[in-house]
Amino acid sequence: MKGVLLSGGEGTRLRPITHTGPKQLVPVANKPVLQYAVEDLKEAGITEIGVVLGNKGREEVQEFLGDGSCFGVDVTYIVQGEPLGLAHAAGCAQEFVGEDDFVMYLGDNILNSGITDLVESFRSGNYAAGIALQEVDNPTAFGIANVDDEGQVIQLVEKPDDPPSSLALIGIYAFSPKVFDVIENLEPSWRGELEITDAIQGLLDRGNAIDSHVVKGWWKDTGRPQDILDANRLVLQRHPRSTEGTVEDGADVTGHLDLHETATIEAGAVVRGPVSIDAETTIRSGTYIGPYTSIGPDCTVCNAHVENTVLIGDTTVTSNGKIVDSLIGRGTTIGSADDLLPEGRRLIVGENSNLKL
Ligand code: G1P
Repeated sequence: MKGVLLSGGEGTRLRPITHTGPKQLVPVANKPVLQYAVEDLKEAGITEIGVVLGNKGREEVQEFLGDGSCFGVDVTYIVQGEPLGLAHAAGCAQEFVGEDDFVMYLGDNILNSGITDLVESFRSGNYAAGIALQEVDNPTAFGIANVDDEGQVIQLVEKPDDPPSSLALIGIYAFSPKVFDVIENLEPSWRGELEITDAIQGLLDRGNAIDSHVVKGWWKDTGRPQDILDANRLVLQRHPRSTEGTVEDGADVTGHLDLHETATIEAGAVVRGPVSIDAETTIRSGTYIGPYTSIGPDCTVCNAHVENTVLIGDTTVTSNGKIVDSLIGRGTTIGSADDLLPEGRRLIVGENSNLKL
C-alpha cells in the first residue's frame, strides 16, 4: 500500500502566516503539521509516499521532507500545480500509485489516533474505498456521508445545504486504483474543483462497496488560525515530553514541559505546562509562559505574559502586556508601547493580519 500526501493549496484562511510558506509547514507543538501525517502513514506501515505539491511552497516542503529518509520513509514528489481539487490531486498520483491500493492524506489534517484502524478496516474486506468519518457541528462545511445502521455508506455529498447526517469525511481516505477510472470522468463541482467526495460517490454508483470508519479521538483540519491553536492545545496535552534544556535555579516550572536541549528558562521565569520550547530560545526573568503555549526556535521572551499561543519562531517579545490565544509569525518583534511619545501603539503589520488591541 502506498501513501499520497497532499501538500498543495493556497492556505488563504491562514494568511498572513501563509504569505511566506505553505500551510502544511505551520508548526503545531513545534512540529510542522505535515510531519504528523508522515508519522501516521509510517505507523500504519506505509513508507512509500507520494507528496503532491501545489504552486505554493513547493521548495519549502521539499526542503523539509527531503527524500524522506530523515523520517524513515521514501518520498516521491508529484506536481499538481493549480489547485483543481482533491480528486485532481489524487489523479496526479496515478502513475506513482500504479496497481497498488493507497491512502490519501490531506497534509493539513491532524488526528489523535493515527490511521492504522482505518487501513486495517479497509484491508479486511473487498472495498474500493475506505473513508474516515467524524461527527461535526457544522456539516455544511464538509463532505458528508450518509451511512446505514451497519456502517455501509449509502450516499456522499460535498458541503451540502441540507446535510443528510452530521458525519463528515475527514481528510484521510483509502482507495483501490479503481478510483482513477472515476476521476477521469468527473465534472468540476460548483466551486470549480474535482471533488474527492464525488469520486467516492462515483465508486458507489458503480456498485462498489465503500468501507466507513468513525475516527476516535480528536481530529483537526488546520485551515484557520483558531484550528492551529486548538491542534496545538490538543497535541500538547497528549504527551508528557522531555525536558532536556536548561532550567536555572529560581525558575518556577510546573506541568509538562518539552524543552529543547539548547533552550533555557532563566531564574525568575514562571512556566506552567503543557508548554513546548524549541532550540536556542530563552525565557527570561519576569516572564510567565502559561499552558498550551508553543515557542519556536530562536525566540527571546522577556517580562512578558504569553498563554495559549503559538510563536512560530525567530521572535522577540519584551512587552509586559498579556499575549493570549495568539498565532505569531516568524521574525516578529513585540515590544512595549509604555514609554512612547506620542502615546500609542506602533504597528508594522502584514496584509490580512488580525489584531485585538
Ligand atoms: C475537503 C473535502 C471535504 C472534507 C474536508 C476535510 O474540504 O472537500 O469533503 O470534509 O476536506 O478537511 P476543503 O478543505 O477543500 O474545504
